Parts: sequence; structure tokens; C-alpha cells
Amino acid sequence: MKYRIAWMKGDGIGPEISDAAIRVLTLLGDIFGINWELNFYEMGDEAKKKLGTALPEETIKGIKSSDLAIKGPVGETAFESIVTLRLILDLYANIRPAKSYKGVPSVKPIDVIIVRENTEDLYKGIEFKINDTVVALKIFSEKGIKRIARIAAMYALNRKKKVTIVHKANVMRITDGFFRDISRQELEKFGINVDEKYVDAMSMALIRNPQDFDVILTPNVYGDILSDEAAQVAGGLGFAASANIGDNYNLFEPVHGSAPDIAGKGIANPYSMFNVILMALEYLYIKKNDVNAQRASEALGKSIESCISKGFLTPDVGGKFKTNDITNYLEQELKAYA
Ligand code: NAI
Ligand code: MG
Repeated sequence: MKYRIAWMKGDGIGPEISDAAIRVLTLLGDIFGINWELNFYEMGDEAKKKLGTALPEETIKGIKSSDLAIKGPVGETAFESIVTLRLILDLYANIRPAKSYKGVPSVKPIDVIIVRENTEDLYKGIEFKINDTVVALKIFSEKGIKRIARIAAMYALNRKKKVTIVHKANVMRITDGFFRDISRQELEKFGINVDEKYVDAMSMALIRNPQDFDVILTPNVYGDILSDEAAQVAGGLGFAASANIGDNYNLFEPVHGSAPDIAGKGIANPYSMFNVILMALEYLYIKKNDVNAQRASEALGKSIESCISKGFLTPDVGGKFKTNDITNYLEQELKAYA
């Protein structure tokens, strides 16, 4: 298969970890017979300096005409670039896996995917003031709930076929009750084993027994909070990747920012960006049924775990290796699949 990729390297450590990931992606393409057509676009602080806008029209067009969009972190212009782009492209699902690795300290072993609705709930931002009282609207639509439930089902079907819906329907009976009922109906259409948990109990359970969970489906606000918690349970930011998915477009990126404090030193942790590639490959398998992408994702996932368990780590997690060294070791692991 041939895929067009729109790649935005971003700011700070963005170009460093992008270059590392491009080497890995290219090698995977060679080994597993996947043809990548990479096109580079500007986005973020550097784009704003050069072109006067952090999100040039050409970048949006490039993303719209590609099969995959991948970006490194951007800096101070995050709101006007990435947050705006999520709205323009209606990227309604925010997928955040949290996974612990042998060799990296974690609170407890964890391997979950949080599927967070990304466009509704209190974060629609409809707030107003009446005299001395303020009001925010909590909004869910049937269409919005169904489409995010289908994304959760898509991921669950490739894992343990189990989804935990997280809500607070005992208090928010109409709103969260609607979210729970509609999403449960939709998930059951796909033969998913559905479980539920109140969000307060969930925040405790994620620390106490994270192994009880696999795919977690939750509205925007709870998902925002629980995904930070889960990332920390797993061991930290330098490994965390995310996907923004809509019906027509997608955008894969690390969870962290441009890390200006370490930019240019060659010590950025590249695993977050390798996990971005991993998520993009899994997406191609799920969405396009591409078995080569599946084989590539399995090889990459195992090789990442192997490199981490051998102690090939950057200073942010106590290691002594540079971005480039780790990329070399990962390439060596992958060549075993050739
Ligand atoms: P940050 O995530 O860039 O950095 C927080 C800390 O984690 C820093 O000490 C940094 O060195 C470290 N860190 C992050 N990623 C790392 C990696 N791969 N390897 C090693 N260490 C890593 O968050 P901060 O400092 O709050 O924000 C910096 C800039 O990033 C801001 O301008 C912010 O707007 C932007 N940002 C962009 C995002 C995006 O593009 N989606 C998301 C979050 C922040
Ligand atoms: Mg957040």
C-alpha cells in the first residue's frame, strides 16, 4: 500500500524527535513493504515567525489531502495551531494510551487506552453570567456520543473487546445518564463487553488496580483529567503519544510540548514519537485493514519494549543515552524482522 503523510516537525525538540521517527518509519516501510510519501508542512512558532501564521492554509490543505497527519510538539502557538486544527478538522476523538514498560518506574503495571470525546461537554465553552451567578452548559448530543462510542469499539475490537464507560450518572442523571445509555447501546452493537464506573471511583481504581481496565470511554472533562493521571501511573510524559481522530481526518502527536529547556541538546526522549508512529500504524490496520501495517506495528511495539528493557533511555528517565543512540538501537532491533 502507498500512503501520503503530512508531517509537521514543530518547534523545540519537535524536529529532533521527528527526524528520529522518520528514520524508523522509513525502515519499517522497507521491511514491511509499505510505501510512504512524506510531505513536510509548517506549523507552530517557527511558522509564525517565517510566514506570519502558526497554521498556514497550505498546511491545512496538505493534511486534508493526506492519509495520515503526524506532528511534533509546537510551542507557544499551541492554541492557534493544534487546538484550532482539531476544531477545523472535527477531530472528535482523543485517544490516549497509557502503558508501563519494564525498565521504567511506574506506579503499577498499566496498559489502557483512554478514548476521550473531544468536542462536547463543558469544554464546548458555553458560559455566561447572570447578575451574581455564572453558568456553564454541559452538552452531549446523540450523534456526538454514538460516534465516539464507535471509535472506542474500533479500538476494543482489536484488543480485549471490553470497554469501561466512565461517567457520573448517579448525580448527573440526564446528561451523564444519556452518555452512558447511548454509548452502551452503540458499543453493544459491536459485541463489546461493556462495564461502567463512576468517575470518582475510577480515579482511585486507576491507581489501585489499573490492570482491571483496557479501553476506557469517557466524556471530554473526565477524559482530560483521567488521561493525565493514567500517563503518570505509567511512568511519565516522554513516552506518551496521542491520536486525534475524526471521520475524515486524523492527527497523531506526542502528548508533551516542545520542551524548550532541552531543545538542541540531542537528549530528547524519542519514544513518545516512536509511539506516535506505532499509533499511526495501528490506525492504518484498523481503518484500512492493512496487514503489513499490523505486522509493522507489532514489530515496532516489541522493539520499543526491548530497547527500553535493555536500559536504552534518555536522561529525563535516568538514562545516559542520546536521542540518536536510541534511534540506532531501535533500528538494529527492527532489522531482525527484515
Ligand atoms: P513540555 O511538555 O514541553 O515540558 C515539560 C517537561 O517535560 C520539561 O522539563 C521537558 O524538558 C520535559 N519533556 C517533555 N517532553 C520530553 C521528551 N520527549 N524528552 C525529554 N523531556 C521531555 O511542557 P511545557 O514546558 O509546559 O511547554 C513547553 C511548550 O510546549 C509551551 O510553549 C506549550 O505551549 C507547548 N505545548 C505544546 C503542545 C502540543 O504541541 N500539542 C502540548 C503541550 C505544550
Ligand atoms: Mg489536559
